[in-house]
Amino acid sequence: MRIPRGAVYRRSVVSLPPVERRDQITVSVDGQPVLAYAGESVAAVLLAQGIRTFRHTAKMGEGRGIYCGIGICYDCLVTVDGVANLRACLTPVAAGCAIETRPSAGWQALTGSDGMAMPVDGDQAAL
Ligand code: FES
Repeated sequence: MRIPRGAVYRRSVVSLPPVERRDQITVSVDGQPVLAYAGESVAAVLLAQGIRTFRHTAKMGEGRGIYCGIGICYDCLVTVDGVANLRACLTPVAAGCAIETRPSAGWQALTGSDGMAMPVDGDQAAL
């Protein structure tokens, strides 16, 4: 199909419904109380606080945060209520939960003297 010279094409305008916030809750991020909304992801809470680096890689110490946002890349690992290596983009917050962006003690214990991460049973994130 040939497009006539000077033709004006308009994109259709799609209106999204307004965001409906659920109940406001308090969580802690690295020990600091933070307001959040029930049902939103840990990643949303961290990003709303301006936190872009959720963890550092075991080998090179490079910062990692949101990359895919859909649970595939495992770059957004955090510790929530003592459970290490949860994907922040898929984990919903709950009132009173404690989010840690630093590497957990367990993760550090899994790091060999050469700085390489050593996976353990059931820890898919470390593979
Ligand atoms: S951002 Fe990729 S798994 Fe969470």
